[in-house]
Amino acid sequence: LVNEPDTDWAVPDNSAWIAETLNHWQRRCNDEATEVSLTINDELIVPTAQNLGQSLDPSRPDVVVCRYPRLTIDQVNASADIANRDPSGWHTKSPDEIHLTLRRAAQWLRLRRGELIGAMVAEGGKTVAEADPEVSEAIDFCEFYPLTARHWSKRAAVSPRGVVAVITPWNFPLAIPCGGVAAALSMGNRVLLKPASQSVLVASMLCEAFWDSGVPREALHLVPCDETVAEAGLVANRNVDSVILTGATSTAKRMLAVRPDLNLLAETGGKNATIVTAMADRELAIKHVIHSAFGHAGQKCSATSILLLEKEVFEDESFRETLADAVESLIVGSAWDLSTKVGPLISPPGKTLTRGLKTLEDDESWLVVPEHIVGNPNLYRPGVKWNVKPGSFSHMNEMFGPVLSVMSYSRLEEAIAIVKRTGYGLTSGLESLDEREIQIWKESTTAGNLYINRPTTGAIVLRQPFGGVGLSAYGPGIKAGGPHYVLTLAKIENKSHIP
Ligand code: ALA
Repeated sequence: LVNEPDTDWAVPDNSAWIAETLNHWQRRCNDEATEVSLTINDELIVPTAQNLGQSLDPSRPDVVVCRYPRLTIDQVNASADIANRDPSGWHTKSPDEIHLTLRRAAQWLRLRRGELIGAMVAEGGKTVAEADPEVSEAIDFCEFYPLTARHWSKRAAVSPRGVVAVITPWNFPLAIPCGGVAAALSMGNRVLLKPASQSVLVASMLCEAFWDSGVPREALHLVPCDETVAEAGLVANRNVDSVILTGATSTAKRMLAVRPDLNLLAETGGKNATIVTAMADRELAIKHVIHSAFGHAGQKCSATSILLLEKEVFEDESFRETLADAVESLIVGSAWDLSTKVGPLISPPGKTLTRGLKTLEDDESWLVVPEHIVGNPNLYRPGVKWNVKPGSFSHMNEMFGPVLSVMSYSRLEEAIAIVKRTGYGLTSGLESLDEREIQIWKESTTAGNLYINRPTTGAIVLRQPFGGVGLSAYGPGIKAGGPHYVLTLAKIENKSHIP
């Protein structure tokens, strides 16, 4: 499998194309919100005053991007019932047929890259630079998962588990839902996709990709609904066999309390660090850290949120100045503007992020003060907190926003212990050119994705399967985007045939 390439923005035609696409989308959003309607049992469900859900443009929060119906518990139950009965016979399709169908979905996405980017800028506040690789990742999932399903079906007696609920966040509104849906469908399961309330338009476009490509509507249902409805209609529903969740640790815990027997595959966030040793290429390290910490305004579970500097680097005046300069020169603004590097938050900061952005503890100081930009409650200039101590609020809490906490250490083992203390274990970065340090770090770091001399965000399907340990994951611990993931959504009779 060759990974889908991202757009090359150095090609003038490509930059002209995306500028035109964004103009079109901005005009479209200004004119009218897109309306998403759904069909259950031949009944058309449209947004009304009673069930209205809407998503807003984070760059211009007074603009409504999409209006959709929030489904009732009865409507979610009805969808789950259809999915369970599977009148279209999706569960009987051969791995070859499924592979062909999902490859068509990949092609659908390929042909609509610009539309999908436009929708992600509009509804997700993602910059084009962040949205473009998401389309590539979604295409990779559609190509890769059915291929692995076909591979395993030749080696073992695998069959679908049943109905899979895919519950997804707003920060990767296309790639994360696409990964869950494609993996579940690949094994002949039927799917209920419950997207975040902020990103229903992108989720509906994704469903169109599958439906237009031959996935029956009875096998894939879009079920936008409130959290309480999702808990009762999806998690507690005996017609649902498995849940793929990307969300909070507390949500995963609650799901298992409601349904201890649930096949739950959950990715639940991170508090990721990059360690920069005295043996690092310091300027390159800054480049990687800035990208990892402030891409999508820090709203990635994979983001670097702690920067751990070896004492010599911590005391290096020139490193400190370069880091501050690099952060201060990031262009912060609307996601519609192609020069923007840091776009808006999805909504105004909540309690944890507000505390992270506003308060200092003990010996902490600001290397770069985060600043709210007047005119948009979602827009913040990134900040860098200096001299954060082990055990402090900023050390232990996931911020999900544009603030980086800098800590210092004397020995690499101490740094590794500081990272471990958060309890999370999703991504972890090391910047060092020393083989011995790299070896020590690799052997003792507990995280799903270890990155050396590279940013901690942007895992690539197949090459860097993605998933965490500790507080970052619940379930069988098999990584998304890797060859074994589809097996977590299958019944397997002769496991011994699977390496
Ligand atoms: N898979 C996403 C990344 O690696 C979360 O950044």
